[in-house]
Amino acid sequence: MADQYAQTREDNRPAGTPAIRWEEPPEGPVVVLLDQTRLPAEEVELVCTDAPALVEAIRSLAVRGAPLLGIAGAYGVALAAARGFDVDDAATALAGARPTAVNLSVGVRRAQSAYQSALAKTGDARLAASAALAAARQLHQEDARASARMAEHGLALLDELLPGGGHRILTHCNTGSLVSGGEGTAFAVALAAHRAGRLRRLWVDETRPLLQGARLTAYEAARNDLAYTLLTDNAAGSLFAAGEVDAVLVGADRIAADGSVANKVGSYPLAVLARYHHVPFIVVAPVTTLDPATPDGAAIEVEQRPGYEVTEFISPQAPLTGAGGGLPIAPLGTQAYNPAFDVTPPELVTAIVTEEGAVSPVTAEGLAELCGRSRPA
Ligand code: MRU
Repeated sequence: MADQYAQTREDNRPAGTPAIRWEEPPEGPVVVLLDQTRLPAEEVELVCTDAPALVEAIRSLAVRGAPLLGIAGAYGVALAAARGFDVDDAATALAGARPTAVNLSVGVRRAQSAYQSALAKTGDARLAASAALAAARQLHQEDARASARMAEHGLALLDELLPGGGHRILTHCNTGSLVSGGEGTAFAVALAAHRAGRLRRLWVDETRPLLQGARLTAYEAARNDLAYTLLTDNAAGSLFAAGEVDAVLVGADRIAADGSVANKVGSYPLAVLARYHHVPFIVVAPVTTLDPATPDGAAIEVEQRPGYEVTEFISPQAPLTGAGGGLPIAPLGTQAYNPAFDVTPPELVTAIVTEEGAVSPVTAEGLAELCGRSRPA
């Protein structure tokens, strides 16, 4: 079991410690994660000494969010290589840990192909392991740079769409430094607006059922001194109706070739609300989230999660009595519908902002052009 390989480290996390890092103690290399299931109550690190531990951390959402999943996948391959495990087996398990965020398989493939080509060239497994680690580190750094560029492009777009300033932004799920090598995607844009003195309020959807908004975005907003207010997901409609939302900013887990956007479940209803109320719905994501191989929204595999996440409150603070280890909130045996993501069609998306610039209106041609720009011939 993965638990054999993972240990927790309960020391205090200094401010600014990244959500993931590679360490090389004398006992051998490890991938250290900030366990996001324990936030905001505790800042506990999870030390993974093998890919199975990382797979379990991905499935349990200890590490989560599309860009960070890519980085974790790449480090997972590097870890298997450095510890002499079967790299292809590790890569298959890691890439299959969650199906929707395309970044995961992109990250895994990058480290795996760096390993394979170094092995083919040198025949030396240690050199190949170093190549896999270099690829993971490079992806990590690239993501940090992409974050900064998305923040710039996103703020410029907000200023263009909302010339009055004083932006009131609604966001869903968690898209900050907890999901990225840098300051994130949608949250990084809100942070840039805050630093420029142009964020009036960040409305934070709690994001049922696992509360990434309440637990994680509120945690990041508080750490960065943003003016933020938490709301239940079903309060968003009345907030729009009251004219309190100037723009919606969300991230993405996979963007199909036609511009359909898979993101945390609840994003699509926000896009519908935004359209009805004439409010821009903006998706912020690195180019690693664009997936030209997936033609449209119907072709995106949406992860279905266990029903107990809906029928129980899963919280470190809750008394652990339900079948899923949480606090039961529905009659025993209740069936639950629990897709982790939904798909927003391109016609409801005002713009997709990447590190390479924004596409608006969102069209297959615009996205293909942007993909071409980001991949040197
Ligand atoms: O299930 P999660 O918590 O991994 O879902 C994360 C999201 O849906 C984020 O909005 C998405 O990954 C974009 S993060 C930049």
